[in-house]
Amino acid sequence: MNITILAIESSCDDTSAAVIQNGLILSNIIANQSVHQEYGGVVPELASRSHQQNIVPVVEKALKQAGVSKQDITAVAFTRGPGLLGSLLVGTSFAKGFALAHQCKLIEVNHLHAHVLASFIQTPTERIAEPQFPFLSLLVSGGHTQIIIAHSYTNMEIIGTTIDDAAGEAFDKCAKVLGLPYPGGPHIDNHAQKGNPLAYSFNKPSIPDFDFSFSGLKTSVLYFLRDQIKQNPDFISQNIDDICASVQKTIIDILMQKLHAAVKHTGIREIAIGGGVAANSGLRNAIAEFGKKYGYNTYIPERKYTTDNAAMIAITAYHKYLAQDFASQDISPRARYSLQEYFGKI
Ligand code: KG4
Ligand code: ZN
Repeated sequence: MNITILAIESSCDDTSAAVIQNGLILSNIIANQSVHQEYGGVVPELASRSHQQNIVPVVEKALKQAGVSKQDITAVAFTRGPGLLGSLLVGTSFAKGFALAHQCKLIEVNHLHAHVLASFIQTPTERIAEPQFPFLSLLVSGGHTQIIIAHSYTNMEIIGTTIDDAAGEAFDKCAKVLGLPYPGGPHIDNHAQKGNPLAYSFNKPSIPDFDFSFSGLKTSVLYFLRDQIKQNPDFISQNIDDICASVQKTIIDILMQKLHAAVKHTGIREIAIGGGVAANSGLRNAIAEFGKKYGYNTYIPERKYTTDNAAMIAITAYHKYLAQDFASQDISPRARYSLQEYFGKI
């Protein structure tokens, strides 16, 4: 019998649905929400309203593109958390209703677990090399920055985390200071490709072990710009490429320094990245070069699987299905949902 799973992701401002059959992704539809741009950040009420409008058409499109009917679905999976509660509620309620109506299994997925497993996404047409367990995952998103040891599909251990802002937040906050639109990460990335990363230097934090700190960077960029603008009011517009390249280099250096330390400490030579910031060109190059230089195997998911998407929820749900790990109808979403809680370690 085929294992056919419909997966839903609605943790923040993207509504996404994917279909996976016997471990291969057949469709992955994403509806982005542009309503937030004029506010400079995600507005939770608008996000949940957009999810409500998008979820039915997005699911219909995912089923159609996959060429499967609702009756073919053996399980429906959804992101339970972490994320915005109102947004999560839309995906959770939809999945619970779908499971009831079509008498299929229900699978809850932690959003961070899914970002880590994005390196295992395969489609019928493009096969990629998969990490071997145990592997190290650098998880860098808008809300999280962690170094994780993945012992197996369903057993993971966090060895480093940010003590304040996430790497994606650092990109977005620095972009805001520079007057770039939200989310700023991709804009910094674009400008950085045309700029000199050594043009300016910003202080890096000294935090012990494998933990990160990014809150100082925004302040340091802010003070730097204030001083420069005093001398030249057009400093930002005249030097935007170099500023972006230098900010991006600082963020990447902070990430790579900790990743290097974690690789040395654990002796693990398999390295994967995941999360929205893993779409960054500079970080992707840095990881690939790091692997080449030291002989490590690196796994960099396609860009569309790094930012929020339901394909990563689907591959995670597939492995939970194989482990017969199902949820019941009384489940509710969780705005805060650490991997430790999820894996039952606390
Ligand atoms: O994983 P994600 O889509 O959502 C969360 O789970 O948070 O990550 C979103 C974050 C945002 O901060 C966004 O600016 C950042 O990923 N991002 C990037 C790039 N694309 C997305 N940051 C740097 N360079 C990019 N190309
Ligand atoms: Zn995410």
